[in-house]
Amino acid sequence: MTGTAAPLRISVIGCGYLGTVHAVAMAALGHDVVGIDVDVDRIALLAAGRAPFFEPGLPERLESALASGRLRFSADMGEAAAADLHFVCVGTPQSADGDAADLTAIFAATEALATHLRPGSVVAGKSTVPVGTAVRIADMLETAGAALVWNPEFLREGRAIADSLSPDRIVIGVGRTGEEQGQGEAHGHGRRPGQGGDAIGILRTAYAPMLDLGTPLVVTDLATAELVKGAANAYLATRISFMNAMADVAERAGADISGLAEALGHDERIGPHYLRAGIGFGGGCLPKDIRAFAARATELGAKAPAALLATVDDINLSQRSGLVVSITDHFGGAVAGRKIAVLGAAFKPDSDDIRDSPAIDIALELHRLGANVTVTDPAALANVAGRYPELSLTGDLTDAVRGAECLVIATEWAEYREIDPVAAAELVAEQTVFDGRNCLDRASWAAAGWHYRGIGRR
Ligand code: UGA
Repeated sequence: MTGTAAPLRISVIGCGYLGTVHAVAMAALGHDVVGIDVDVDRIALLAAGRAPFFEPGLPERLESALASGRLRFSADMGEAAAADLHFVCVGTPQSADGDAADLTAIFAATEALATHLRPGSVVAGKSTVPVGTAVRIADMLETAGAALVWNPEFLREGRAIADSLSPDRIVIGVGRTGEEQGQGEAHGHGRRPGQGGDAIGILRTAYAPMLDLGTPLVVTDLATAELVKGAANAYLATRISFMNAMADVAERAGADISGLAEALGHDERIGPHYLRAGIGFGGGCLPKDIRAFAARATELGAKAPAALLATVDDINLSQRSGLVVSITDHFGGAVAGRKIAVLGAAFKPDSDDIRDSPAIDIALELHRLGANVTVTDPAALANVAGRYPELSLTGDLTDAVRGAECLVIATEWAEYREIDPVAAAELVAEQTVFDGRNCLDRASWAAAGWHYRGIGRR
């Protein structure tokens, strides 16, 4: 550990994507960490040094953290009792019956944790929650005399280790209002004086190596910290849907979305990120988070954000159906019996996550319309096989492409971006490629005789 602070005893409650990576990152910083989850199979895997999902760099980091003796895993919440700081990282999925977040797991975890806390314990919420959840959790911790801070996480799948160890910023929310963020004057709502300052202090210790490197720290209240996370994801989703809306205009006008994005990205006020048009955003975060944000905004009486995000969601989903319509049009109105290779199943490259994946939706819809669909992916096929037995799968790219009448690039894995269009032409029945991620070099594919269709590209 490069910081000046002493190592802390830390518990990480919930060992899903966020919790596993956070536990490994905290151990890498030199803290003594126990990761806890109710899923005994997952705990057994992690304890054996096996990452339960695909994440570049995680297996190596997990192994070295376990070997250092600074990281262990347990299914027993009692193991959290000795920790000074508890990070709550459990999932908050979309409710089965609506758009709101399902908070069952986070409340259950808090209740279980509360029985093992002592006065002065600090709990840091990291899960993505609708604004207003943290004060409910603070209430649940009140009798134990524990303090709550909200400390949202911004890691991306596929870059989770780097994002955790080198975050753009650290946000710490403490106190129901700004009054409790100080160093000892807090006394509202039954809290002990000094609680906010003490809690911030322990978080500063936890993140000392990052803070020493100059990572910006934003200290705010609980509600603002919760909102930062929701607003960040809502803004990223909005940028993507904005560019997909521009792609629609560009295509109709004979303009090119890639050139447009490049030019916009040079504007310092706009910046180059999250401007890639295509079949849109998926995964376990952006789609459910904008829906949960809109649902909460509606509860709070804020109609405009809910309407804005509903449009963002609509544009996003129409990118998937729009590609299917384009493919159907290409085949003269029907895809039945056509042999189509869908390259990619994960919602993005360097991930095996197929939650709300545009690639899967497109493959399923083509299959439903009677196409003979083969899906390939370098990492995600095991997850597809378990959930969508109706899809034909192959791990071999050449097998997927051989005899196809149409290729669909649905996830921009490096190996798809690097396909040699001349060699691929030898394998297919028809040289048609729908580049759903605008990731191929259009000129070289066209030069090799392919009928190339991107999104928002001439
Ligand atoms: C997202 C956020 O980027 C993280 O900051 C946040 O911590 C995380 O959600 C979370 O809430 O846990 P992630 O879901 O891993 O991270 O995925 P992103 O890399 O943001 O990509 C989301 C989707 O947007 C992918 O399907 C990607 O293909 C798509 N995308 C991204 C575009 O279509 N265009 C772009 O320009 C960028």
